[in-house]
Amino acid sequence: MELKAITDEEFDALYPIKMKALSGTHWTPVDVAKNAIAFLSEVEGKSVLDLGSGAGKFCLIAAANSGAKITGVEQRENLVRLSRKLASKARLHNLDFICDDLKNLDFGRFDSFYFFNAFEENINLKDKLDKDNSINLEQFHTYIRLIREKFEELPKWTRIVTYCGDAAEIPESYLMIKSNNKGKLRFWEKGR
Ligand SMILES: C[S@@+](CC[C@H](N)C(=O)[O-])C[C@H]1O[C@@H](n2cnc3c(N)ncnc32)[C@H](O)[C@@H]1O
Repeated sequence: MELKAITDEEFDALYPIKMKALSGTHWTPVDVAKNAIAFLSEVEGKSVLDLGSGAGKFCLIAAANSGAKITGVEQRENLVRLSRKLASKARLHNLDFICDDLKNLDFGRFDSFYFFNAFEENINLKDKLDKDNSINLEQFHTYIRLIREKFEELPKWTRIVTYCGDAAEIPESYLMIKSNNKGKLRFWEKGR
């Protein structure tokens, strides 16, 4: 399975029908993933964490298109299983998936981060990932605060790419270097 030049249509066809149907809402488009990983792994040997890796689309495209070490953390076990299966089919070895709540991870182990609006599911029930999803505004704000605090503790030059959302999780110590896709894709670097 060759992922370097794959299109969105071809990639989404690798998923079971239900996962494929969620792609437009929940999984990163191929071009976005390529742009994001180019920024996050500009310097060789970077270790990149996808916060809420879902069915692995960002991680798989990023691993196939960079020499970076990619880790995805995802709370839903079925999505982690699917991601690992695709990684093995694609024979990608610079890629690892952790099944956990992202709040339990030490962000200091990573150089850069990708964040596609993982907490939106607490405030928006469009294309629910499972039937237990419900609106929980408090949880949304708690998690945004939590990763904001973790980002704040990271060293100068740490890079983050955010896709969608209002970037409330990005502390003022980060500068927006550029933005693409009508402002939905934003590239951040810690300035102090
Ligand atoms: C919008 S999807 C993005 C998937 C993937 N990053 C991609 O771009 O293809 C967000 C994912 O974050 C996961 N998620 C949400 N809150 C999480 C948490 N606290 N810990 C781990 N994963 C979480 C959800 O289960 C969902 O799969």
